[in-house]
Amino acid sequence: MNVDEAIRTRRTHKVYRPDPVPREQLDQLFELARWAPNHHLTNPWRFRVLGPRSLEALKQGHPEGAAKLDRAPTLVACSVVQTGDEAQDEEDVAAGACAVYAIMLAAHARGIATYWRTPEVLRSAEGRAAVGVGGDEHVLGLLHLGYADRDWQPPARLEPGGFVQYLD
Ligand SMILES: Cc1cc2nc3c(=O)[nH]c(=O)nc-3n(C[C@H](O)[C@H](O)[C@H](O)COP(=O)(O)O)c2cc1C
Repeated sequence: MNVDEAIRTRRTHKVYRPDPVPREQLDQLFELARWAPNHHLTNPWRFRVLGPRSLEALKQGHPEGAAKLDRAPTLVACSVVQTGDEAQDEEDVAAGACAVYAIMLAAHARGIATYWRTPEVLRSAEGRAAVGVGGDEHVLGLLHLGYADRDWQPPARLEPGGFVQYLD
């Protein structure tokens, strides 16, 4: 799959088969994530693959949202380290988002579906503690990975004319 096709055909998947993504495949994805652009090579991203205990702790942190955490077999808490320097922190959040997207595209090219979620529980102290997110980290989301149960149609997209300007 070439890059254009990967970008165009990747979709958010919300229904997964139960089989988890093998660790070797996850390792390949994280190896690719580190090639995302990041100013001053800060490597700000952090990825934590949830195991049974951390998943359970996360569910305890927000029982109302617990069922949704069972939707995908593999969950990865994605965050970036923040330093307190406003400009660097902003850049590092952007770099972290690039790394997450790199994972999503590389996963898609391997037949692995993804869903970038920002669940309420990861905004709480309990939820952050459940997945070991440090006080100096900004949470980007909870990346769901797995094998899609069905196809999802792409939501309509704005044409480039709606968001691109060529300036004089
Ligand atoms: C930063 C970020 C946070 C997101 N959080 C959620 C979320 O909490 N719940 C959700 O249903 N989708 C979430 N999404 C997925 C978007 O809704 C999805 O990308 C959008 O509907 C377009 O669909 P597509 O990914 O198939 O192109 C998030 C996407 C991004 C980039």
